[in-house]
Amino acid sequence: MKIHLVSGGCGFVGRNMVRRLLTTTKDAVFMIDDLSIGRHPKEWLENFTSEMRGDLEVIGEEKRLFFWQGDFRNLLFYMRENPRYIQEKYHIDFEKFTDVFHFAAIVGGRLKIEGDPMMVALDLSIDAEFFYWITQHKPARVLYPSSSAAYPVSLQTTTGAIALSEGDIDFDKNLGTPDMTYGWSKLTGEFLAQIAAKHYGVPVVCIRPFSGYGEDQEQSYPVPAIAARAARKENPFEVWGSGKQGRDFVHIDDIIDFIFILLDNVKDGSAYNIGSGQLTSFLELIDLFADIAGYKPAVKPLLDKPVGVHSRYANMDFVDNKFGWKPKISLREGMTRVYEAQLKQLNRQ
Ligand SMILES: NC(=O)c1ccc[n+]([C@@H]2O[C@H](COP(=O)([O-])OP(=O)(O)OC[C@H]3O[C@@H](n4cnc5c(N)ncnc54)[C@H](O)[C@@H]3O)[C@@H](O)[C@H]2O)c1
Repeated sequence: MKIHLVSGGCGFVGRNMVRRLLTTTKDAVFMIDDLSIGRHPKEWLENFTSEMRGDLEVIGEEKRLFFWQGDFRNLLFYMRENPRYIQEKYHIDFEKFTDVFHFAAIVGGRLKIEGDPMMVALDLSIDAEFFYWITQHKPARVLYPSSSAAYPVSLQTTTGAIALSEGDIDFDKNLGTPDMTYGWSKLTGEFLAQIAAKHYGVPVVCIRPFSGYGEDQEQSYPVPAIAARAARKENPFEVWGSGKQGRDFVHIDDIIDFIFILLDNVKDGSAYNIGSGQLTSFLELIDLFADIAGYKPAVKPLLDKPVGVHSRYANMDFVDNKFGWKPKISLREGMTRVYEAQLKQLNRQ
């Protein structure tokens, strides 16, 4: 039996990955989440049924989804003490995890990244424990989600913003300063990924997603928050900062698609952008949602809100040349999907 591990499996990216694994494979999935941010699977899995096997929740008729609720670091500690901890305690018969997706992290929106940077720095401890474990366990393949936040903020200013290319992070040159402790932890994670691949022979690939969004993302992120306000026809429409700051939005379905292409092709710990290559300002995003909602609001800037870097967007040439990959979901289509989801929720209230 193949069994994959998904840490942070109840968070935004994790939920989408777990659903994809369950629908496109017959494999088992071992999911870990402390539910600090994530939502219990009964809220996001269809036809949810479960039974307990000790403190492990076994989900679904086919009993191939396992949910271990708690701090991933504790489980990593138990597995370090006893490499067959999961097999013995929960009577699951397997040798090694096949694919390991490590989404457990303290992420948050801009408010958390700038408001409580030392809490976000705890990601360093989660990642250090994680990478040590994979060098011992040696799963078949590992996905480490870095972030576009790992790029130097000096390349994302009002006057000097450029489309960020993979080569703008080079561990043999001056790395610049990434975005707060969040960016530092991701940059460190990428370094650890390369060490795991080169010194321990563990196949790892890193991704640098830009602004991932989707229908079931938390309201602390701008896309669903703006969509919900457009669905309520907010007027005047509040925007954080001037609204001229821009991001590169990419739909979660595209992110998941590309992760599998990378896992099949990359093993050396290197990192790849996942974006659209298109810079969209928040004013443009509000325009788009207002257009989808069919009205024309006035815009009210909230200048005391944190906005982060001015412009962050991807250069997708390297990915296109190497893999011939481009996102399939256009900005309008993706945002329409998010809008419809928010409207449905509003109509239910
Ligand atoms: N969503 C994006 O656009 C995006 C962009 C760049 C990078 N990433 C990276 O992808 C990963 C997943 O991001 P996300 O958007 O799904 O975030 P998220 O906050 O929705 O998911 C993270 C999950 O990890 C869980 N978690 C946190 N600490 C934990 C711990 N110690 N033990 C167990 N579970 C823990 C949370 O409860 C949450 O469910 C993160 O590493 C993030 O940095 C995401």
